[in-house]
Formats: sequence, structure tokens, C-alpha cells
Amino acid sequence: MRSCTTQINKKMAISTSTFFRTILSLSLFLFVFSLPSPSLAAAKCNANDKAALLQIKAAMNNAYYLASWDPNTDCCSWYDVTCDSSGRVTRLEIFDDTDVTGSISPAIGNLPYLNFIDINALPKLSGSIPSSITKLTRLTFLRLKGNNLSGPIPTAIGNLNKLTFLDVSSNSLSGSIPASATKLTNLDAFHFENNNLCGAIPQGGKLQSFGTSPYDNNKCLCGAPLTPCK
Ligand SMILES: *[C@@H]1O[C@H](CO)[C@@H](O)[C@H](O)[C@H]1NC(C)=O
Repeated sequence: MRSCTTQINKKMAISTSTFFRTILSLSLFLFVFSLPSPSLAAAKCNANDKAALLQIKAAMNNAYYLASWDPNTDCCSWYDVTCDSSGRVTRLEIFDDTDVTGSISPAIGNLPYLNFIDINALPKLSGSIPSSITKLTRLTFLRLKGNNLSGPIPTAIGNLNKLTFLDVSSNSLSGSIPASATKLTNLDAFHFENNNLCGAIPQGGKLQSFGTSPYDNNKCLCGAPLTPCK
């Protein structure tokens, strides 16, 4: 009698655990297939984009910050890099690090699918803004704030006419604001403050639309919205 009950209990226990195991694997199955597809078919980095990123890393003296940028791995998995579904690099975000030295490689201009660049708060990042950056006509967001960049704002900055946000503030940029900046008609905000810029502010586009603060603390900027040039 007792052995019979035990056997029934055991059988029930087995079928119960089988039941739960089935439910568990079924929900796991459903969960995996409900994940967004990029995690299933991870984007493979475009070879040209990878080569450009490795040049950027080298120009930053192979900063420890970029340790995940290992040539033997898919660059779409690297820290600070975002790719689209076809493995083209769309975003680059390198910021807040006092150990990054060197400069921004002109190879940044070889990442044609970039729409977002945030290279920000790297106080030892020196050199100039590479003019090749003006080839990146898909850019909507460009922030190069709080680094140690010097030299001029690239003359052809106006090519980046999809920009809604441009911030080159708090560097040591010199020269004047390029005339082509009047072509940046999609800007919702821009920042030239805290540099050594000088000369007449070009008139037109959005350059007179956001008051005087985007021009604060430069060397000798003049013209609207600041005081007339002498
Ligand atoms: C900033 O750049 C200048 C050259 O323009 C250089 O002399 C200086 O050492 C740099 N500062 C830092 C903190 O890297």
C-alpha cells in the first residue's frame, strides 16, 4: 500500500517537473525570439570603417579608454561605437577622460555614415579640428566641447547642413567663424563660447537666432548679435 502511494507520488512529481521544464523552455524560446533582431544577427563592422576607427585610436595614442577597440573583434561591439544594421558606424561617443591625449585623426572623415559625434571633455586632446570632418554630411549632432583643440573652425563647416546641434565651445579655437556657417539652417542650438575666436560674425542663417551667449568669452568677435565691428 505504502509503496504504491510512493510510486504514484513519484510519478506525479516526475510529470510535474516535466511540465514545468516544458513551460520553462517554451518561455525561454519565446523570450529569445522576442528580442530585437540586431542581437540575433549582430552587425558585422564594415572593413573601411574599422580601419578608420583604428586610425582614430592610434591618433589618440592608443588610449586605455579605447582598450575595447581590438582589431581582432567586430568594431560594432566596441565601446563608444554604434553601427546600423548593415555594419556602418553611425555614432562615435568618446568623452570624460583625462587620460586621452593626442589628436582627432583626419581619418574621422572616412566614416561616411556617422550622424552623431560626441568627442567631449577630453582636456588633453589637442591639435585642430580635421577639415575632413566636413565630408560627414549625414551629421546631425557634432559636439567637440571641452577639449584642448586649437586652430580654426573648418572653412567648409557649412557642408554639414543637417546639423541640428553644433558645439565647439571651451577649446582654444582661433580665427573667425567661417562664412559658410550661415548655411547651417537646421541648427536648434550652437556653441562657440570660450575660445579665442575673432572677427565679424557672418550674418544670416541661424547665427543671429540664439542671442549672445553662444559667442561669450572669445577674443574679439563682433557684429550682430554682438556689438558692431569697428
Ligand atoms: C594644449 O594644447 C597646446 C598646444 O596648442 C599644448 O601646448 C598644451 O600642452 C596642451 N595642453 C594639454 C593639457 O594637453
